[in-house]
Amino acid sequence: MAPNSKLNAKRKAKRESTNVKVAPRKEESAVVATSSIPLDLQQLLLNIFRNSFAERLSSNIDPLLQEVKGHLYNRDFAAAFGKGEYLEAYAARWSPSRALGYVDLFWDLREHLFSMESTGEEAIEVQAKIGKSCKVVCLGGGAGAEIVALGGLQKLLASVTSDEEKANYQRLEVVATDIADWTSVVQNLATHITTAPPLSKFASATARATNAALVNPENIDVTFLQHDILTAYSTDISSRLQDARLVTLMFTLNELYSTSVALTQKFLLDLTATVKPGSLLLVVDSPGSYSSITLNGAEKKYPMQWLLDHTLLKLANGNQRERGKEEELRWEKVQEDESRWFRLDNGLEYPIELENMRMQLHLYRRL
Ligand SMILES: C[S@@+](CC[C@H](N)C(=O)[O-])C[C@H]1O[C@@H](n2cnc3c(N)ncnc32)[C@H](O)[C@@H]1O
Repeated sequence: MAPNSKLNAKRKAKRESTNVKVAPRKEESAVVATSSIPLDLQQLLLNIFRNSFAERLSSNIDPLLQEVKGHLYNRDFAAAFGKGEYLEAYAARWSPSRALGYVDLFWDLREHLFSMESTGEEAIEVQAKIGKSCKVVCLGGGAGAEIVALGGLQKLLASVTSDEEKANYQRLEVVATDIADWTSVVQNLATHITTAPPLSKFASATARATNAALVNPENIDVTFLQHDILTAYSTDISSRLQDARLVTLMFTLNELYSTSVALTQKFLLDLTATVKPGSLLLVVDSPGSYSSITLNGAEKKYPMQWLLDHTLLKLANGNQRERGKEEELRWEKVQEDESRWFRLDNGLEYPIELENMRMQLHLYRRL
């Protein structure tokens, strides 16, 4: 979870108060592929963060970021996400590059995520019942990276030209759920996604004529639900999950495992029982994340993806066997990548420095 503090420290000296170019380190740029997302769209997404947190970014944000980092370092998440100003600072600093990394990822996975054909007949029936709307539930998604990335994806999907892709275009319903109260951050970002950005008084006539919201409000709906997914599997969360097309756990699963492996496994099994066949679960986290389990007094470390596969591909089916039913596969793994890079382009601008990101990803489909 901890942001790349080494890189930050190196760059702190270079930081300026106005927009800065966000350039990757040389050794990183050698191993990353170029994003397929147009640069002007990437800049629009950064602008959403810049405009949403304009006041915070125009003052000296460093002391707040240091305090947040201190709490994250001590794994005191309640303190790190316990104050409105911390939440704003976190979202302004760490969500923008994640949003770009996620829109790049969603675009690459779009055939799995949004194509009806790949989901089987049952899923098409579910989709037909809930109409031309695609629900995405972002667990641990209060900081807004997933929301802005999904806004970017809607923008891209709206601009596609083929008839087949146009026919698949759906309104997006995004539900961000988080243990901390990110209400105002989510509302702020949602407003900036659906309204035209502010223009400078020197803007040209063309800029004024073409100035538009990233996404038409009719095509996206964003809501926030404050909820601890480990302690209460209430109707609040299950009713949202049951018609979700996509459920995401971005840089959140490892945090859940470090809170409690047993409760996280229980949550994943409850999730399995709630979501409909055809729906997808996307898990993204830092590569090489480990969690400790104590068995018979001895502590053993397991890689996060091993625990996840074990729960979804073994335990979820095992549960069926225990109940005397025939083995029925519940999940299949559709795609995985142990190390995927997202590289920030040199041409992008943002008021504070951002950094490249690396992630492991796992995409499962409910059978
Ligand atoms: C590292 S942040 C990731 C934020 C965002 N998903 C991203 O990718 O940038 C982890 C998030 O998970 C949330 N979280 C941790 N434990 C949770 C729980 N038990 N229930 C719901 N959210 C939780 C935290 O509040 C935090 O917002």
